[in-house]
Amino acid sequence: MIDTQAIRKCFPILSRKVNGKPLVYLDSASTSQKPDIVIDTVSDFYRNSCGNVHRGVHALTRETTELYEDARRTVARFIGAADPAEIIFTRNATEAIHMVAWSWAREHVGEGDEIVISEMEHHSNLVPWQILAKERGANLRFLGIGMDDTLEPGDLESLITPRTKLITVVHVSNTLGVINPVHEIIRIAARNGVPVFLDAAQSVPHLPVNVAELGCDFLAFSGHKMLGPAGIGVLWVSKNRQREMKPFLTGGGAIDQVGRDGATFNEAPYKFEAGTPAVADALGLAAAIDFLDEIGMENVRAHEEELTARALSSMSRIDGLSYYGPEQTALRSGVISFNVKGIEPYELGSYLDSHGVAIRAGDHCTQPLLRALGISSTARVSFYLYNTINEIDFFTGLVEKAAEDGI
Ligand code: ALA
Repeated sequence: MIDTQAIRKCFPILSRKVNGKPLVYLDSASTSQKPDIVIDTVSDFYRNSCGNVHRGVHALTRETTELYEDARRTVARFIGAADPAEIIFTRNATEAIHMVAWSWAREHVGEGDEIVISEMEHHSNLVPWQILAKERGANLRFLGIGMDDTLEPGDLESLITPRTKLITVVHVSNTLGVINPVHEIIRIAARNGVPVFLDAAQSVPHLPVNVAELGCDFLAFSGHKMLGPAGIGVLWVSKNRQREMKPFLTGGGAIDQVGRDGATFNEAPYKFEAGTPAVADALGLAAAIDFLDEIGMENVRAHEEELTARALSSMSRIDGLSYYGPEQTALRSGVISFNVKGIEPYELGSYLDSHGVAIRAGDHCTQPLLRALGISSTARVSFYLYNTINEIDFFTGLVEKAAEDGI
């Protein structure tokens, strides 16, 4: 098990007060807090090494290039990529999804073709596909949600047709917290020769994720949700699919030769990283990964499961509270969306904030999912390695009081 008190000491923000109360940060699915090592890595880069990558010969540019490529190797190792060249640095998961839509899908999806998606998607993994489908005259087909609130792989065989060009689904839902049966989805897709894109923005930060073991084709996540800086994300693409991709943005490092009327492109991953990259943030992400690695992702997962079990057990005893997603913690990560009868989620969020407790309220960028559940918003708590059982008890105590006395 992990030493939460020792971990908390590494996060300077956790000792601050909010509204005169100790901060209880329960919004890590939105963005995580950052340990000293990440903050220091970013500032050390600007203090000591700041150059550009792959450009010029002087010491700083050589050092920066080495650090940046080291960061790529760290990310590759963390997710089990066969080759660091499969790691493309992006701004965030949203940009990574757009890269797949533009650079791969626009070349491979035509009129009458189909993309399998789900109603559980974050808008970032839905709207780009809606736009692409409209533009290409293709159709989106929706994978259903099963009795246990996870995506239903059993429906997939009947959804896949000879026109299915891609399956794009969320690994862990940012709203329901469910861990989808992606191994099964990928197995069925592979049997039918259909590539799979996984939105792993909520899984890579919280569970051991290994792309070699998963066998998917594309996978995206963001640094800021896993202790890293904002402005750095990752698109992992298997070597074979990478060869099928056109450049996304062009110019700078993406280019090989340029004539008056045309250009040839660099090799991957540089082909997909036009312009000066967010080097400091990539180094910060690598520092975050080293931090997580030292604790061990199995341990991060076990800790969050314990917090979730405690929260669900207390929440299920509160009159008027309904939470969404399954009871079994094995099926969910540390994200719980809920509503309390008679209290608007925003009201509850403000009430908790006045006690120093940070939660999210709203539609969580998943309007189709909430519509399917017959609601328009929820309150949501989300946990990470720095949260404690005491914080969970403090939060559920406040919600219980609000449910009993009103706000
Ligand atoms: N996608 C992030 C969330 O769920 C912002 O809060």
